[in-house]
Amino acid sequence: MITGTGELCSRAEESGVSFPLGDTAVLAAPAAIGSKTAPNRLVCQAMEGCDGTRDGKPGELTSRRYRRLAEGGAGVIWFEATAVLPEARANPRQLYLNERNLDAFCKEAEAIREAAVKKNGYAPLLIVQLTHSGRYSKPNGAPEPIIAYNNPLFEKDGPLPEDRVITDEELDRVNEALVNAAALAERAGFDGADVKCCHRYLNCELLSAFTRPGRYGGSFENRTRLLRESVAGAKQVCSSDFVVTTRLNVYDGFPFPYGFGVKQDGSLGFDPAEPAALLRELQGLGVPLVNVTMGNPYVNPHVNRPFAMGPYTAPEDPLAGVARMLHGTAQLKKEAPQLMLICSALSYLGSAAPQVAAGFIQNGGFDFAGFGRTIFAYPDFARDILETGGMRQEKCCICCSKCSEIMRAGGTPGCVIRDAETYLPIYKTYCGREKS
Ligand SMILES: Cc1cc2nc3c(=O)[nH]c(=O)nc-3n(C[C@H](O)[C@H](O)[C@H](O)COP(=O)(O)O)c2cc1C
Repeated sequence: MITGTGELCSRAEESGVSFPLGDTAVLAAPAAIGSKTAPNRLVCQAMEGCDGTRDGKPGELTSRRYRRLAEGGAGVIWFEATAVLPEARANPRQLYLNERNLDAFCKEAEAIREAAVKKNGYAPLLIVQLTHSGRYSKPNGAPEPIIAYNNPLFEKDGPLPEDRVITDEELDRVNEALVNAAALAERAGFDGADVKCCHRYLNCELLSAFTRPGRYGGSFENRTRLLRESVAGAKQVCSSDFVVTTRLNVYDGFPFPYGFGVKQDGSLGFDPAEPAALLRELQGLGVPLVNVTMGNPYVNPHVNRPFAMGPYTAPEDPLAGVARMLHGTAQLKKEAPQLMLICSALSYLGSAAPQVAAGFIQNGGFDFAGFGRTIFAYPDFARDILETGGMRQEKCCICCSKCSEIMRAGGTPGCVIRDAETYLPIYKTYCGREKS
């Protein structure tokens, strides 16, 4: 992890990458998103806590996390992955938005706003992420995959049975569920809904369904159908003020024909052509903002969340991963300049992150700075940036991957290092080791 702009500059030079540095005052500027206004450019990215109740309502730890984020002062809180069907849950404690749970979500949204206004005098924009976990569905704790197509890169022990491949008719039902959930999200008091299309969950897996026959596979039009139609459907059932958006994988990091945003020459090079075309389609549908991300947290986490310590030795310097994410986002911004973009993967930059995000924003590379693991470690990062112009190194995420380890082991993830009183005991229970 990087400990300041001085270290960043020397490490970046060694790795052959570069990052612009800017004036962090730019991060305090409000920005209009459709008819709503985000009070500043700092975004709490979607970070799942796997701490809902068995029936999908926010639990005690969920409310604790969002209260801390609300008080932290970020301009946008991207509320975590929330399932739209029972079989779509990634774990038995994943949040699940439905008519029966609506009241609990109303209370959660209200509590977040209240806590933010009380502490900071303003409320963040609240966007909820609507998901179908697809290949990674584990509604009862064990894998119950629902896949877009058989993928030999992931199914090394043998192809998943045919009945695991979702049919076109079932995908029509997923579309309906996503649209219904967007309407519920507005009733719950969220400012917007994200039709999640990232990290190789179902909607995202379809983007690379080159080998799938039928209405949802093959051509660009078919592979993007679920996303486009669910976004258009959500726009129809929600009011014009409600923000319909998506968190979008613009690059998967898997070779053609199993990756989106990847060159078709068999290499892992980034090809912005299809992602750019999709961004323009989304803009045409009235989407004002897209949250950009890359990679698969299960298979190539070094692409998705560059780490200092992780489940394997990464094949590249983590700074190369951060550079791919930030410069890739900036490359796409040029292709759809009117669309507002949020970046991902700033956490590895530690206390240098605000200056780098400011540099990109000042150069027109993107519009909002999205922080993921940082929000577990340092929930009030935004207040420190807004009040002091920077982040304190001793509060930063160290990118040790322990939050992910807890999640993979079936526990409730949080920061084992900076929030140790709550999460070290959880780490010990699920991962069976002391903090190293
Ligand atoms: C424990 C954990 C939970 C996550 N939950 C979500 C989620 O619910 N939705 C999502 O889109 N991304 C999720 N992510 C990915 C993060 O939002 C983010 O993209 C990633 O960590 C890279 O950003 P960072 O370098 O700032 O951490 C999660 C990541 C971790 C480690």
